[in-house]
Amino acid sequence: MTVAGVDSSSILSGRRVVLGVTGGIAAYKAVELCRLLVDAGARVAPVMTEDATRFVGEVTFSALASEPVRRSLWEGPDPIPHTRLGQGADVVVVAPATARFVGAYAHGISDDLLTATVLATRAPVVVCPAMHTEMWEHPAVQDNLDVLRRRGVVVVPPGEGRLAGGDVGAGRLAEPADILAAVARVLGPADLAGVRVVVSAGGTREPIDAVRFITNRSSGKQGHAVAEAAARRGAEVVLVTTTALAAPASATVVRVDSAAEMERAVLEQAGSADVVVMAAAVADFRPKAPAAGKLSKSDGIPDVVLEPTPDILAELGRLRRPGQLLVGFAAETADVVGRARAKLVSKGVDLVVANDVGAPGTGFDHDTNAVTILGADGSVRDVGLRSKDAVADAVLDSVVACLAARPQPPADAGATRRNQ
Ligand code: C5P
Repeated sequence: MTVAGVDSSSILSGRRVVLGVTGGIAAYKAVELCRLLVDAGARVAPVMTEDATRFVGEVTFSALASEPVRRSLWEGPDPIPHTRLGQGADVVVVAPATARFVGAYAHGISDDLLTATVLATRAPVVVCPAMHTEMWEHPAVQDNLDVLRRRGVVVVPPGEGRLAGGDVGAGRLAEPADILAAVARVLGPADLAGVRVVVSAGGTREPIDAVRFITNRSSGKQGHAVAEAAARRGAEVVLVTTTALAAPASATVVRVDSAAEMERAVLEQAGSADVVVMAAAVADFRPKAPAAGKLSKSDGIPDVVLEPTPDILAELGRLRRPGQLLVGFAAETADVVGRARAKLVSKGVDLVVANDVGAPGTGFDHDTNAVTILGADGSVRDVGLRSKDAVADAVLDSVVACLAARPQPPADAGATRRNQ
């Protein structure tokens, strides 16, 4: 498995992973995750909650992991096991994470060894929730996860499938291989350190009148995933978004609504950007003369005349500074790669991410995506169906490759540019 252009085994080899297991039926899948981590060369220190031991015997983890299972703050000779575990970890992974654990962690409650450890660490933390659909969708759980995301915790969302008791729905623990990939991404190289990246995300809203608008099905999830991955890889990120989704803690966030607002924000930010990723679904048309108040039904069906919006990406292509890298997205339902290739040329960009938004599990509002990344240099990279986080990293791998292929500017050129 490759992450950020590097094999995940070479990323995980020798890294100390604290694997937290909480009390859900999916605890049995953490056994497989433990094995995958050990196979990838990680040193795995398992921590089980009391309830987790009701689902899987601690001997199972002790036999597979690099160290015996720890369960309590009060066992063994070490009086402060949580600080030792937290300080010694390169990453803490909690899989499965129950609603109780998520709630305790979000509220800083440390009532067992695992919750104490995640509060006592400065290492990145990856939380992989698993629970029944009703619990997963409860606003309390979602709000707690948003709090954790805002604090920089990586949340690997559950998938859909069979749950305990024969129910089927959302809340099933992510597959161990996907969790392994997420952990490798967290520990991956900071290959965008010092690079200023502007990312746009979400569908724009074009007013018809004071209360109505035209929009599209974009959720903004893919753009936010690109921003998240760029920040994790060391970039200085500006996220121009139409959505209220969580943004990386270190990013500068500019919230916008219409194509005109997005144009203003992106052009302003792009002046000092090394890379611009236009993942937003910018409306192509907008009402020419939106009404100031609410149009009344009693006045009959309004004649809404449309006009084209500014093509921000094409404008960026015309205005671009030497060395600046531009990435566009092409959401299509037919001749996806052909149309994306045409955009490479017509918009004058370096990379276009072709996205079949009509295929199952891909595009608008899904948590997964499948894309083809086309380069102006003729390169073609197919990225099969995977999480939007993984697709974001694949796009950034192509960005890093393009940046590396550029002739290097003189040593002080970047500093001069950023000071302008
Ligand atoms: O032309 P089309 O809308 O298919 O191109 C998609 C790409 O162009 C996306 O990267 C999108 O963010 C960008 N775009 C833009 N301004 C528009 C329309 C699309 O920047 N008005």
